[in-house]
This record gives sequence, C-alpha cells and structure tokens, in this order.
Amino acid sequence: MPDKKTFYITTPIYYPSGQMHIGHTYTTVAADAMARFKKMTGYQTYFLTGTDEHGQKIERRAKEAGKSPQAFVDGIVEDTKKLWAMMEVEYNDFIRTTDPKHVQAVQKIFKRFYDQGDIYESEYEGDYCAQCEAFWTPTQLKEGSLCPDCGRPTEKVREKSFFFRMSKYQDWLIDHIRTHPEFIQPASRANEMLNNFLLPGLQDLSVSRTSFTWGVPVGFAPGHVVYVWIDALSNYLTALGYLSEDDSLMKAFWPADVHLVGKEIVRFHTIYWPIMLKALGLPLPRQVFGHGWLLFDQDKMSKSKGNIVYPGPVVRRYGADALRYYLMREMPFGSDGNYSNEALMKRINSDLANDLGNLLSRTVAMIEKYFEGFLPKPADYEAVDKALIDQLEALPQLVETQMNALQFSQALGEIWRVIGECNRYIDETQPWVLGRNPQGKIRLGTVLYVLAEALRYVAVLIKPVMPATPERIFTQIGLEDQEAQSWESLGAFGWLTPGLLVNKEEALFPRIDISADLALLESENEAELKGNASLAPREDEDEQIQELSVGIEDFGKLDLRVALVLKCEKVEKSDKLLKLTLKVGEEERTVLSGIAQHYAPESLVGKKVVLLKNLVPRKIRGHLSQGMVLCAATDDDSVLKVLTVDGDMEDGAQVS
Ligand code: MSP
Repeated sequence: MPDKKTFYITTPIYYPSGQMHIGHTYTTVAADAMARFKKMTGYQTYFLTGTDEHGQKIERRAKEAGKSPQAFVDGIVEDTKKLWAMMEVEYNDFIRTTDPKHVQAVQKIFKRFYDQGDIYESEYEGDYCAQCEAFWTPTQLKEGSLCPDCGRPTEKVREKSFFFRMSKYQDWLIDHIRTHPEFIQPASRANEMLNNFLLPGLQDLSVSRTSFTWGVPVGFAPGHVVYVWIDALSNYLTALGYLSEDDSLMKAFWPADVHLVGKEIVRFHTIYWPIMLKALGLPLPRQVFGHGWLLFDQDKMSKSKGNIVYPGPVVRRYGADALRYYLMREMPFGSDGNYSNEALMKRINSDLANDLGNLLSRTVAMIEKYFEGFLPKPADYEAVDKALIDQLEALPQLVETQMNALQFSQALGEIWRVIGECNRYIDETQPWVLGRNPQGKIRLGTVLYVLAEALRYVAVLIKPVMPATPERIFTQIGLEDQEAQSWESLGAFGWLTPGLLVNKEEALFPRIDISADLALLESENEAELKGNASLAPREDEDEQIQELSVGIEDFGKLDLRVALVLKCEKVEKSDKLLKLTLKVGEEERTVLSGIAQHYAPESLVGKKVVLLKNLVPRKIRGHLSQGMVLCAATDDDSVLKVLTVDGDMEDGAQVS
C-alpha cells in the first residue's frame, strides 16, 4: 500500500428484502460524498457498502415471491448496484454476506469466540421480532408484546442456542465510551447507549438460530446458523480480507474511520460490534455516526405504509446531482427531516437554478458579450474585490472543518453563502454599466475575472456532493487544466489563466414548474412502488422536443424571431429529424426539428420561418439544438406546415 493517509468509511449493509429507497440512498450518498472529499484532500480511501442477505425475513420474502433466497437476493442486488451507479456512488467494494469469502471468515470468527470461551451453548426463550431480527426483554417490549423498534408483534421463540458473554466486556466498554467522546456521534446517542443499555447491565446475547436455515452454518454445531447481526457486522472486516489469505487491505485500512448508520442501528454498532472486536483483539472503529431518518409526512418510510419514495423519478428528471445536493443540504446530518418533492424542487429552483446557475450564466454571457468570449486579465483589485477574494480563500478550510465533522449541510451552507456574496458582488459592481463605455472595460475585466475564479472555487468544492456539475462549470469557463480543478489549487486565488475561451451552454439546472412536475413525480413514484418501472432512463428521451406549457401571462417571456433558413439536411439514422441552419440577424443557429416526413430538406432553404429563440438548448442525437421552429399541425400530425412570414421581413425581427 502506498504510504498515504488512509480513510475507511462504510454504510450499513442493507437488507435486500425489497428495492432500496431514498432512505438507503441518503446514507449511501453521504458516505460517497465523504469518501470523495477525503480522496480529493489527499487520503487513500476505502468505501464499502453491500447487502445483508441472510435471515428469516429474507427467507420469508423469497418464499412469498416464489423464489429461492439466493435467486431472490441476486435480483435485488442487481437493481441496487444499478441504483448506486445512477446516483454516481463510487464504492470500492460491494460486499454480500453470501460471498463465500465472507461466509468462511464468519465461520472462523464464530469458532474462535467459542474456542476462547466467549460463546457457550444453552437454551433460549424470548420475544423475537423477525422484522428487526432482534430479541427483546419483557421490559423493552411495547404493550401487547410489540417490538419497540418497528411496532410489529413479536413471537415467543424457544430454541437451543449459543450465547455470547456480553457482560464480561461491559465495564471495559463503558470506560471506552466515556474516554472516547468521538466514538459515538452525535454525542446524545452515546448517552442513550450508556443510560438505556450499558449501565442497566448487558444480558448475554443469543448468537445462533435453529429455527431457520438461510444463514451462515455454525459448522461445528449442525442445525445452527449464525445470528444475523454477528454475520452482518463482520462484513466490515471480511471485506478487507480478515482471516483470509490476502489481508493486505486489513493491514492498510483497519480500524475503520467511520461507520455511517441510521440511528436505529447505533445500538448494534456501539455495543455488540465493539465487544466482538475486543474479543478478536482488534482495535475499534474511530467513530460510529448515527444519522437521523428521512421522514415522509413526519412518518418513517416503509413499504407497509405505502409511503416510500424512490430516487428514480427525481433523478431521471433533474439528475443525480440535484438529488444528492438536496439530501445533503436539507437537514443537518444527525437530525430527522421530512422528505418532500416540493421542498426538493424549491431547492433546485432557488439554490441551483437561481444562485449557482445564474451566477455561471451571467458571468459567461458577459465575458462573451464584452470580451468576445476570452477571459479578461485582472487589473488592480479594489476593496470590494479583495473582500470577496478573502472569503474565497477562507472557504476551503471552513468546508473541510464541516466535512470532517460530517456536517454536510453546513459545508454546503458555507459554499452557498459565498455564492450569495458573488451575486451581491455583481449587483454592487454593476458590470453592465461598466460595459457601456470604454473606460469601464478595464475594471469590468477585473470583475469578470474575479467571478470566473470564484466559480472555479465553487466547482472544486461542490465536487464531493455533486460529482457531475463541476465538469459542466469548467467547460463553460473554458478550463481544461486538471491541476486548476484540484483541491490544492484552492490554496491561493488566481489560478485561472486569462485568455481562456469561455463557452456558454445550456442552463446548469433549468427552472422547474413546480405545480406541473409535482403530479408527474408522484405518478412515476407510484409506478415504481408497484414495481413496474425500470431504472434505465427512457429510451425515447432524446427524440422528444421539449414541451412548453405557458399561460398567456407568460407570453412575454418567449423570444420569437424571424429566421432565414440557410441550410437544411437530414439527421443521420433518424427519419423524423431535419437539421436547419438559421440566420437570425447577426447570429447563426442550429435547430433540430421533427419535420422530415413533411419537407424535403432543400425545399426549406431560403424560407423565412419563426424561431422560438430562448428555448433551453438541448442535445438531440448528438447535435445541439438551439431553439424551436414553429409549425402548425393537424391532431394526427398527418399534415404539418412550417410557419413562414408573409412578405418581406428581415431576419432577426421580433415576432409578437
Ligand atoms: N442489515 C441491517 C444493517 C446491518 S449493518 C452491519 C439493516 N438494514 S436495512 O436495510 O434495514 O437498512 C437500514 C439503514 O438504511 C439505516 O440504518 C439507514 O442507514 C438507512 N435507512 C433506511 N431508511 C431510512 C430512512 N427513512 N431515513 C434515513 N436512513 C434510512 O438495518
């Protein structure tokens, strides 16, 4: 292993009992953002996720689906991997507890506990929740023998079992938690563990089952399978090759720096897990962070309540970066928070489209307008520039502090505070006034340089949370140099080389019509809940010409112009599309139009048509389409006519 600082982060391994939803996505995206951040700041990182595939619950689900447990989990794992790819999650390993390497290591771990006297054989009778795979003592049960975690009825189970002497390690663990305040985070959860579980006294834990077979066989005791939490927690070691021939990863990365978990499983990770590790003679993870729940209408999402949100519909419409941003920004990591599509769209419109998107498009548009697209050279910085530059130079450190404390929302808050400063800087320096006269041009160059450099800082810093957006920002500000896209380059302001050619492209995050999209998202989610939606993007998407739905009050927003058709040709491998080159006053534009079945390409050349000029540009079949040519068509599209202008009118003229 290279001698670099290392960082090992994990998510819980999820039960593949159904499709993963936005709650699982939340933890996984947080772990991915953290891993990316550490990697960017010079750490050798290892990011582990996976699935917890054994146990009675999975066995039952598979039976209901008419499949073998293995075939059942294989299907869900495939979908889960697709989902993480769609969410731009880049893990180092995806462990499955059915992996032979894991199964063998768990058997060795169990045998070792037995051989050294940590585990003994006895008989068990208790109240068991099959959903949570947990036994509860009579005092922990809710009224009516209901599980205190999920509220479902528990069952009385009596069986031969192996037991782990948890009590032996109790005092040591209390001491460890008290002397390592960073071990359980947020700190309130440490008190909960001490007061509710450790101080009242630990019971020995039943660690094998004979009532079902879908698990890791104990090996030396036929009929017993290993309790699913012993099996599951071991994944954090077995994935690194613990007790296997090649344990180089173990040497490089253990102990873990942080296990990210939802708050309901902090107990397993801060009581059973440290005790298991102590018994194995291994160091403990530095931290277990128990984050809050994403709630839906103030309630925890669950399939039985039918209130599950899946990421697919949101990602297909707005991209993974938008959802990742919302998840990491909306609520402080550690607290519960409500998920709503409406809040998501509001965030996209305000933070991404307005604050960030407009900053970029205004900056690039002004460099194009006043400097022919070339990044100007800054002259002397004035007080207003220096104030913003100071903020930018201080920003990486502020972000790093928050990220290291897993405070994603605050880290993003710092970045967006500075984006706000940039937009205020534009209002204050009034570049459009500077651009009116030649004397203002030098000052204008400085202002636009500062803004472009600010965008570079922002793009680098948002990368861990929004991995795809920075590339789009770099392209627009004309930055190809990889070094200038690195964390190190944020050490000092001024890395951008004047003279770069900027490149205005489509809006980073088009504004959403919230009321129209709400219903759409809901119906797509409904389809996914019924299990009949595919994770793959729809194939027909790139053939669709973007539809506009506008009321009469919106008409003024449309920039309609007379355009002269200079050239027209068929688009390869498409029988519907024509590619038109249009002259609109001083400008030339390319527009793709689905009219090939109605017009021979050459018949349109020389015509004056009507162009919707400010439609969001989009790529269709690899060609950039910058607007829409207006047509009239019958309901069934059998007759279609391009709108032309009556008599002589110069191209570029406004249509109203
Ligand atoms: N298999 C165990 C974990 C074993 S780890 C050694 C398990 N699996 S689970 O499928 O139920 O996943 C639970 C985890 O998913 C939570 O701890 C949390 O990380 C994530 N979440 C599931 N629903 C969630 C919300 N509604 N909100 C936030 N996180 C949620 O427990």
